[in-house]
Amino acid sequence: MKILCLNGPNLNLLGQREPAVYGRTTLVEIEASVRKKAGDLGVTTEFRQSNLEGELVSWIQEARGRFDVIILNAAGYTHTSVALRDAITAVGIPTIEVHLSNVHAREKFRHRSLIAPVCVGQIAGFGANSYILAMDAAVNINEV
Ligand code: DQA
Repeated sequence: MKILCLNGPNLNLLGQREPAVYGRTTLVEIEASVRKKAGDLGVTTEFRQSNLEGELVSWIQEARGRFDVIILNAAGYTHTSVALRDAITAVGIPTIEVHLSNVHAREKFRHRSLIAPVCVGQIAGFGANSYILAMDAAVNINEV
């Protein structure tokens, strides 16, 4: 199994960005723990971050035929991006939505996710561990 883990805008700032909300773990540290988890699970993973909506759309498109599951923290684009939602639908790759924070316990505009209806499910509120939970969900996705 090949898992593509995509991260949206401002997640490159994790560690310094609003630590009370997102914790002190950096994206580099999250990537390392995802890689270790992939090794433990016997799957391969690729981990990327972009601040650009179009780049995330292109990565989702290019994943067709190359990856079995996408783990996506679309960050702010979660709440705005029809383009990301359409890309997920277009490629038909099972996608797991991930958030560090519990978006449902925060501002109202974060309660709505445009991508949630086209994802298999959502994992939110477990900090950096949300990614590890998503890896477990990914390897069992065919049982959903
Ligand atoms: C986030 C939640 C989003 O609402 C926010 O815009 C982010 C990070 C999270 O991981 O908790 O940038 O996706």
